[in-house]
Amino acid sequence: MSMSRIPFQQLPAGIRRAISDKTGAVHQAATTPGGMNSGIASVLKTESGRVFVKGIPTDHPQVGAQRREAAIAPHLPASCPRLYWHLELDGWSLLGYEVVDGRHADYAPGSPDLPLVEAALTELQAVTAPADIEIKDAVDRWADYAPPGTLQYFSGDILLHTDFARDNVLIVGKRARLVDWAWPTRGAAWIDPGALALQLADSGHPVEEAVAFAGRFPSWRDAEPAALAAFGAATAALWREIAEEDEIPWKRGMAERAAALADVLANG
Ligand SMILES: Nc1ncnc2c1ncn2[C@@H]1O[C@H](COP(=O)(O)OP(=O)(O)OP(=O)(O)O)[C@@H](O)[C@H]1O
Ligand SMILES: [Mg+2]
Repeated sequence: MSMSRIPFQQLPAGIRRAISDKTGAVHQAATTPGGMNSGIASVLKTESGRVFVKGIPTDHPQVGAQRREAAIAPHLPASCPRLYWHLELDGWSLLGYEVVDGRHADYAPGSPDLPLVEAALTELQAVTAPADIEIKDAVDRWADYAPPGTLQYFSGDILLHTDFARDNVLIVGKRARLVDWAWPTRGAAWIDPGALALQLADSGHPVEEAVAFAGRFPSWRDAEPAALAAFGAATAALWREIAEEDEIPWKRGMAERAAALADVLANG
């Protein structure tokens, strides 16, 4: 669900005061482009340095995602920005992050960003999902979409990001940083390479080449072909539903790419 962004100055005075209690005086605020869920996304210049602030109203349906993002933050690998604080008051839920001075990743075929994205995801693939916090389970997330009898393939204990949209991957020098942990999920490790492959296909890679890129990750190479076929079918079903609910062109494009991915994986 998208919402329009407000500038930092339009937040209630109480929460702006709570932020400056953390950061010292706020000298400047610049709204960040990219993404759509956050009601506010700004880089603040403060007395104690810069901070990226994202947030949504506490009565917004996605506030649960924001709280999951706060809960997972201490468990994330070095490729992800540090969370400094999480504030909830005056009807707003806000997260204050280390600023990543990057640009959105370029996923085009041959892009020099691709090995950097590979390195960041390789690091993440080694992280076990923490047991003591509430995150999503891949089995639940794909339950309504996976073909009958295939759900067990999605089960696992690796921490997954699952949303590799280009604007959730920031490039800084020779490094890719993964942001926007709204959907941390416990599951089979090969799911993230699959989710990345869909995004690569949407950025101009022939689907076979996007699948070959997923094959750079051992989890994908070692997965059973039936598991990957189930992922393809489930992803196609999910995006078909998304595109039917909201007929905007990029969603229809994703649904077409997902259907093509399903075809390739079915013939694994
Ligand atoms: N730590 C950070 N430092 C600088 N910029 C950031 C940082 N984290 C995110 N951004 C920028 O802000 C944009 C929005 O942040 P984010 O992706 O976390 O939320 P969102 O996109 O609003 O949520 P959603 O993707 O669910 O719609 C990102 O696309 C990125 O350009
Ligand atoms: Mg985003």
